Amino acid sequence: MSKLTEMKALLRLAYKATNQSYSPYSRFPVGAALVTEKGEVFTGCNVENASYGLTLCAERVALVKAISEGKRKFAVMAVVGGKGKPIRPCGACLQMLAEFCGSDFPMILASLDDHKQFEVVLLGDLLPQGFKIGEHSES
Ligand code: THU
Repeated sequence: MSKLTEMKALLRLAYKATNQSYSPYSRFPVGAALVTEKGEVFTGCNVENASYGLTLCAERVALVKAISEGKRKFAVMAVVGGKGKPIRPCGACLQMLAEFCGSDFPMILASLDDHKQFEVVLLGDLLPQGFKIGEHSES
């Protein structure tokens, strides 16, 4: 299978995950699909709450599903949401991803209405200077 076909298949899974989105407050469904180094896929959707700040983004849901199943190494993530321009993951999700994924981790980003027009952006470009505890703690 070509890289392009693989990327489109992953976007499709992220798109399908938006069907599970619980977003009655924002009415902004988001889906994510995270691939492990071995090719397993974990999907996630955003899960909102009446106490708005407790909302979980689709990216973090996919990540914690994978982590809680013992996965630690990841190859790529696709994210679908919004209209028009490809979605940009929020800072909290990027920081969570940076815990496990390097700056060369590719993120395939698309909107809901046109997930065929996607962008591939590296985690290190989206979060160039994320927090790392080792840079501040004494050794
Ligand atoms: N959201 C995500 O799930 N991922 C993103 O990358 C951006 C925002 C969710 C959070 C909230 O449920 C809704 O989109 C509107 O902010």
